[in-house]
Amino acid sequence: MSLLLEPIDVKHVTLKNRIVMSPMCMYSCTAEDGKITPFHITHYTSRAIGQVGLIMLEASAVQKEGRISPYDLGIWDDHHIKGLKDLNATLHSYGTKTAIQLAHAGRKAELPTSIFAPSNIAFNENYQQPIEMSLKAIHQTIDAFKQAARRASEADFDIIEIHGAHGYLINQFLSPLTNQRNDEYGGSVKNRYRFLKEIISSIKTVWQGPIFVRISTDEYHSKGNTLDEILYFTEQLKQDGVELIDCSSGGVVPAKIKTFPGYQLTRCERIKQQIGIYTGAVGLITTGIQAEEILQNDRADLVFIGRALLRNPYWAKEAADQLGDNIDPPKQYVRAWK
Ligand code: FNR
Repeated sequence: MSLLLEPIDVKHVTLKNRIVMSPMCMYSCTAEDGKITPFHITHYTSRAIGQVGLIMLEASAVQKEGRISPYDLGIWDDHHIKGLKDLNATLHSYGTKTAIQLAHAGRKAELPTSIFAPSNIAFNENYQQPIEMSLKAIHQTIDAFKQAARRASEADFDIIEIHGAHGYLINQFLSPLTNQRNDEYGGSVKNRYRFLKEIISSIKTVWQGPIFVRISTDEYHSKGNTLDEILYFTEQLKQDGVELIDCSSGGVVPAKIKTFPGYQLTRCERIKQQIGIYTGAVGLITTGIQAEEILQNDRADLVFIGRALLRNPYWAKEAADQLGDNIDPPKQYVRAWK
């Protein structure tokens, strides 16, 4: 049997295979209220029928002002719980586990209202200048992540992922390019990590399940976080009880990224080997053969598939065929898939 299709335990959650649907914003909330729509149900259920082991819902805003766009999915209010819980019941009925990515866009929010960041530096000339967050705003935002985690628990998610990548709010605290604060949340690498550390510890007061954190392992800028600083963050994340580092890159400042198959893998492998923590590989992984190589060579523990799963909801079946392996079909498809 291939490793890709072998089950794996993450804390007390067993995933039936190592294929993860990477979080992908669909900007499809019709009423700008952050609620699940019929599109989301069809979109995610298709991948559950397609036998993805873990379906991670797109970046979901923990505060209304933390949306990337007015059409983002939300988890900032209790009125979001029912739609998410109903969706989870459907996804779970196909044997998939589910995760939600908790997010705050910070200075990358494209909203008509005021936006917030660690320091008042705009992303570029097309973005609003953010308001520097006060200590009170920082504490309120940490509490918003906690409330979102409590709602995720009530909505029956198996796993939470904290979005600390792509230049969104948490990444803005981590990076010296965007964090120029003089208080305990800025300056040293330890201080820049504080916001994320406090988010994790407050989430843990209401959430017992696995926590993943997505980070940008490379900022593609000479004054951005160094590899040593990234390794410091991942060591801290391990000590703070995070189960997996989802290894993405970029988005902190406008920078050109050279992409190629597995372009984010070198640092993913380094983090796994040096820190001794589960990692998730992501980025232009498109075939079962490629995914299997990553797992067999111990470069990552889970493989996150993005665009390939948008093109083909049955990517897992295709990958199994490429590996000469069998994947259990949904019972309605047994005759077609065997
Ligand atoms: C993304 N990506 C992304 N990442 C993330 O952490 N949260 C998100 O909500 C989104 N949204 C999103 C929307 C769309 C339409 C795409 C294509 C991508 C990034 C995504 O999860 C993944 O990391 C990249 O797409 C690279 O993987 P693939 O697509 O090469 O497999």
